[in-house]
Amino acid sequence: MPKLGVNIDHVATLREIRASLEPEPVFAAFILESAGADSIVVHLREDRRHIKERDLDILKKVVKSKLNLEMSVSDEITDIACKIKPDQATLVPEKRQEITTEGGLDILPNFKKIKTAIAKLKKQDIEVSLFIDPDKNQIDAAKKIGVNMIELHTGRYANAKKSTLQNKYFKEILDAVNYARKKGLIVNAGHGLDYYNVSRIAKIKGIEELNIGYSIVCRAVLVGLDRALREMKALI
Ligand code: PXP
Repeated sequence: MPKLGVNIDHVATLREIRASLEPEPVFAAFILESAGADSIVVHLREDRRHIKERDLDILKKVVKSKLNLEMSVSDEITDIACKIKPDQATLVPEKRQEITTEGGLDILPNFKKIKTAIAKLKKQDIEVSLFIDPDKNQIDAAKKIGVNMIELHTGRYANAKKSTLQNKYFKEILDAVNYARKKGLIVNAGHGLDYYNVSRIAKIKGIEELNIGYSIVCRAVLVGLDRALREMKALI
């Protein structure tokens, strides 16, 4: 059974919609950990549209499980990560206009920049994971750049409407997990997973952790965060 990391960016989104003080992400982290979350995930975006530096700072002091920071490889964000020292950094591509992370990192064209960020983070004892598409070339590149952990992008599987397409993208993920495991990598997965599509992914042997955000926060609005988390854990 994979572990479950919960991304709480959208708790902060709700706060930012009114530029107010609530809901407070750290309270969500507390409830989620109490209900069985294995890690708390946040993305400090360059435009600070939801999570702010102060959230990261407070979460670092309070999170007991594992704090996983999703981040771009910009110098500014890398410096903040090195200062706050989350347990893990997951490097993701970032575009200003996107609603959410649209794809995985393209490692080879950005090799030097990514390698520099990895070196800085590792120097601070931060474990580094690369968010990549389920693609053999990206897995080879991840191995080449020297990380031992990746997160496979499940978005194409999750967004596929027709079952033939969903099957095709599922197979891509399955093959990628097996390929990466053979190369000795720790494999996580996430993006777009919800209460309807998660079970199939959770059954794949060799996935260490699933990272899920939006669907849990959406359900929590209706049934509460504790119940939303427990229902997701039960499916996984
Ligand atoms: N993993 C990564 C690397 C992400 O960027 C995100 C979105 O922030 C997630 C997982 C969670 O995606 P979702 O919110 O669609 O569950």
